[in-house]
Amino acid sequence: AVNLKGRSFLKLLDFTPREIRYLLDLSRDLKRAKYAGVEQKTMEGKNVVLLFQKDSTRTRCAFEVGALDQGAHVTYLGPSGSQFGKKESVEDSAKVLGRMYDAIQFRGYKQSDVEALAKYSGVPVYNGLTDEFHPTQILADFLTVEEHLGYLKGRKLVFAGDARNNMGNSLMVGAAKMGMHFVAAAPKDLWPDVALVNQCKEIAKETGAKIEMCDDMLKACKDADVIYTDVWVSMGEPEEVWASRIKDLKPFQVNMAAIKVAKSEVIFMHCLPAFHDLNTEVAQDVHKKFGLTEMEVTNEVFNSKHSVVFEEAENRLHTIKAVMVATIGK
Ligand code: CP
Ligand code: NVA
Repeated sequence: AVNLKGRSFLKLLDFTPREIRYLLDLSRDLKRAKYAGVEQKTMEGKNVVLLFQKDSTRTRCAFEVGALDQGAHVTYLGPSGSQFGKKESVEDSAKVLGRMYDAIQFRGYKQSDVEALAKYSGVPVYNGLTDEFHPTQILADFLTVEEHLGYLKGRKLVFAGDARNNMGNSLMVGAAKMGMHFVAAAPKDLWPDVALVNQCKEIAKETGAKIEMCDDMLKACKDADVIYTDVWVSMGEPEEVWASRIKDLKPFQVNMAAIKVAKSEVIFMHCLPAFHDLNTEVAQDVHKKFGLTEMEVTNEVFNSKHSVVFEEAENRLHTIKAVMVATIGK
């Protein structure tokens, strides 16, 4: 049997395909129970601290609502709301928080920080995004793929964009674990780290997954079941990278040409926030400097029948709740 009690959720590499399967099934059960109004609370009396070095909408709200739905209490510590990382070390902070809370969510820069929190706090720690990985996002993405396409195994998932970022890395690992066909569509310089690619190819030997890199967008998207993209510049990256990213990734924009070479029932996914129109401050700023009105995805694709981005966003709630229930629930 699968038992995740007391476990941390730091990266998908730490989990077996069966354990990931278990979390996806639990997510689906919790979603159904909430919809039916029969959700059972398994986290009464628990306290969870949400520590953020970077901002968030979905991840924070999913942890807050997920915990409250299950009867737990949360404390939000934002980028400027605590001593963490400034006056107090990761190790000391972990020891303090571990004495007051039953679990810790961390979003930040270094993967080594979230790993250290788990090591020194003695309670389950959840990775709500680091520069390297965004594992809770992948659970929501895979639940969404299953809801729309029925199953994961053998499905072709193309990640177009900066495939070295947290999303490219995590999708590749998740796809390897679940036996999917993963393609990174990006120029060579933005392919995931070779060591991680090789690790995923090893996992793929066991699971039947296929891991590919491709620097030709239309070739990559041919017969795709899922086309996924993410922002071209991630949180924490310096302003200066915009110019080169735009130049490098323009050919990898998800537009109707990409959708047309994919399977007719292809779904478009994005972890969000997305740059698809000029209705944000960042977009207006980039527009002024570089003249673009859309970036990683066109507004047409974002709003098309292929787009499942808001269902994907909702599924952050059900999957993050499942991680908490599995690890600290009664
Ligand atoms: N997808 C995602 O993690 O969104 P937030 O940054 O809003 O949490
Ligand atoms: N790669 C993006 C993901 C946001 C959810 C970032 O790190 O900013």
